[in-house]
Amino acid sequence: MSGYSLSVFLHVLAAAAWIGGMAFFAAVIVPTLRAPEVRGSASTLLRALGARFRVFGWVSLGALIVTGVTNLWLRGIGWQALSSREFWAMGFGRVLAWKLAVVGVVGALTLGHELLASRRNLDLLDRDPVAGERFRRRASLLGRVVMLLSLVILYLAVALVRGSLG
Ligand code: HEM
Repeated sequence: MSGYSLSVFLHVLAAAAWIGGMAFFAAVIVPTLRAPEVRGSASTLLRALGARFRVFGWVSLGALIVTGVTNLWLRGIGWQALSSREFWAMGFGRVLAWKLAVVGVVGALTLGHELLASRRNLDLLDRDPVAGERFRRRASLLGRVVMLLSLVILYLAVALVRGSLG
């Protein structure tokens, strides 16, 4: 396997972990925590699962950025191309610009989600359920926006390699 293929392989694996992890959290973990039989320990479980998922998420996003850079480099796209206006104005460069812009928004919103779903705020779920629920709802909404934007990144990634947005 060439270095380039290995880089793309690791990039796609990190993308599967990032998007798959969010899908599992939204479709399996959150509905299960709402079930009457686990409701009593839901906030404890949410804190424990959230803490582990946080590490999993940042490692996946970090791996995407590192392998994204190596993908570019091993494609022969170095600093000279990246610093030229022509590169970003058309084809591959234009799609990459859109992709990186959405990645930037996803990074910022993920940080916002972190701050909302902080340990301190989740502890409120036990002490002040009304305030705790408000933070939980806002964090959940941000999480869904991050998931939707990550699907947009995936679409742009496929367009990047296949050369068209249409
Ligand atoms: C949430 C973040 C990201 C996701 C989900 C993602 C996803 C993907 C996927 C699934 C592919 C393969 C597309 C295909 O073969 O059809 C891909 C390719 C690519 N990605 Fe990303 N990516 C992300 C971030 C980045 C970043 C930050 C960079 C650059 C710094 C980057 C650069 C690239 C490049 C250059 C390719 C083309 C690889 C090739 O030569 O085939 N990606 N991306």
